[in-house]
Formats: sequence, C-alpha cells, structure tokens
Amino acid sequence: MNQYEYLANSVVYLVRGSKTVLVHKDPRLKLIGEGRSAFAFLISGTDLVLKVFFPEFHRVAAEEAAVYEQLAGSRFFPNLHGSGSNYLVIDYVRGLTLYQCLVNGRTISPDHIEEVDHALKVARENGLNPSDIHLRNIIITPDNNIKLIDVARFRQSKDCSQWKDLKTAFYKFYMHERFPRKLPQRAMDLIAFFYKKGLLPSIN
Ligand SMILES: Nc1ncnc2c1ncn2[C@@H]1O[C@H](COP(=O)(O)OP(=O)(O)O)[C@@H](O)[C@H]1O
Ligand SMILES: [Mg+2]
Repeated sequence: MNQYEYLANSVVYLVRGSKTVLVHKDPRLKLIGEGRSAFAFLISGTDLVLKVFFPEFHRVAAEEAAVYEQLAGSRFFPNLHGSGSNYLVIDYVRGLTLYQCLVNGRTISPDHIEEVDHALKVARENGLNPSDIHLRNIIITPDNNIKLIDVARFRQSKDCSQWKDLKTAFYKFYMHERFPRKLPQRAMDLIAFFYKKGLLPSIN
C-alpha cells in the first residue's frame, strides 16, 4: 500500500441524518474543505491535498482523476499526483474560494471573472464540457490568479448554467456600487439553497 492510500484509508466518515461527518483521520491530515461528495485534507509537510470521497461517491475518484489528466499542465487547474479507488492527490491551492471571498469581504474583480472564462475555454479546448462551476470550486490565489478545482463533472454532456448565472449576478448585483462587499455566511447559504431548489427567479 502506498502512503497516499494509507492516509486515505485512515479517513472514516459516518452518515448522521443528511450530513456526513468525519470520525477519524491520520494526524498528518488537516481538514481544509468540505464538499458534497468528499472532504479535502492538506497532507502535513507537503503542498498536496488528499481528497477523500464519501462511500457513495467512490466511483467519482476515477472520473475526476481522468479529467485532471486531460487538463495536465494548464495553469488554471491543480496537477494530479495520485489517485485510488476513493481518493485523489492534487496540488494544494492557496487562497480563497469565491464563496470565502464574499464571506470575508475580499474583492472579486471583472478580471477574475474573465480569468475563469479563460480557464473554461482551456477546458473546452481539451474536449471537456465544464460543469459544476460554482463559488466553492473557484479559488483566487494570493498572487491574484484563478484556479478551478472539483472537475469531476467536466465530462458530462448536459449543459450547466451555474457559471452563466453567477456571471450575470456578478455584473448585475455585485458590481452595483451599493452592493455589500461582504455578505453574511447565512445569507450566502440561503441564496445557494434557494438557487439549488430552483426557487430563485431566473436572471438570464
Ligand atoms: N486543491 C485544493 N486546494 C485548496 N482547497 C481545496 C482543494 N481541493 C478542495 N479544496 C477545498 O475543499 C472543498 C471541497 O472540495 P471539492 O473538491 O470541491 O469537493 P466536492 O467534490 O465534494 O465538492 C472546496 O470547496 C475547497 O474549499
Ligand atoms: Mg466542490
């Protein structure tokens, strides 16, 4: 068993109601992010992230690894360093997700938005169909670059309107001079909840 597999096997999840909770992990792993299919851990002493999928999402590990291989070398995506039946190892991306930018009041600029468009173009040129492009999957790095993570759904054929909607909201609301630079987390989560349920009026 390799070291990454050993670390991934140390991660134990438990389903509590509708939530998955972490009940065990190797001390060398630091939890840095929680998604709907996996948690992300920084491996101590490295610049690498171990993404360990929940049991019902194990098959996604191979799908996401294949997409990262297809994007290898692009400055917009972390590099893949390893994968297994329930995990991926990718570059750690320093910075804040767009979600964290909104909650912490870090300004998002039109240049950032254009860079995301550039990243999506690169993915399309590599034969992919970028999907699941939302605030928690886009990171602004300390040197002001953009990186996209969570590329598992880049091979689906269905079109995803999330990025188009976010872009419209950015220009229509966020760029408005009276729009607050910082939003309470509860408000953000409520908006995301209603959006996912299809209960927000269409903005496009
Ligand atoms: N390589 C990475 N560098 C920094 N943070 C990451 C990285 N990968 C994941 N994260 C953090 O962990 C969260 C969950 O990871 P993600 O890959 O989006 O999981 P899911 O597929 O379940 O949505 C992200 O929203 C982000 O905050
Ligand atoms: Mg995600």
